[in-house]
Amino acid sequence: MTQTAFIQDMESRREQARKHMMNGAVTEDFTQDRETIIKLLNEALATELICVLRYKTHYYTANGKGTKVAAAEFWEHAQEEQEHADQLAERIAQLGGTPNMNPETLTDNAHSDYHCGGDTLEMLKEDLIAERIAISSYRELIAYIGDKDPTTRRILEDLLAQEEEHADDLVDIIEHIAE
Ligand SMILES: [Fe+2]
Ligand SMILES: [Fe+2]
Repeated sequence: MTQTAFIQDMESRREQARKHMMNGAVTEDFTQDRETIIKLLNEALATELICVLRYKTHYYTANGKGTKVAAAEFWEHAQEEQEHADQLAERIAQLGGTPNMNPETLTDNAHSDYHCGGDTLEMLKEDLIAERIAISSYRELIAYIGDKDPTTRRILEDLLAQEEEHADDLVDIIEHIAE
């Protein structure tokens, strides 16, 4: 781009910024993919909310071998999944979308399943499966977003790192119980 073209571009950018001021963080160059990103973020939000419910249920119903150490982990993960849900909801709202927390559609939109019942070891395994699903979903989502939306990508990268830690922690506890 020549210097003149860049300046012309800057002028139209200033004009657009002023014209649609009340769109806040959403600028004109970012309308095309925004709807898709909001939809995908809502699916991630549903997944996180289901994870909160699953971990809380596991915390309150843990029984059998390894319960003490597992219950502490279930509680910690429940809090962190709730933080993930809040980060996603905040970003959805920032992008002009509506965070979908409708209980009727949560399980349909979520990538991983709710689980209740069995002993602590079964719960740990179900949670590990759910974490692994979350990990591969976040990886795919990050790859899709690419350079389209750096802020959302950064948020998702942080969530992915924490889901990887969760999966790692669960493997450790399962190994510990199996000893
Ligand atoms: Fe999470
Ligand atoms: Fe997690």
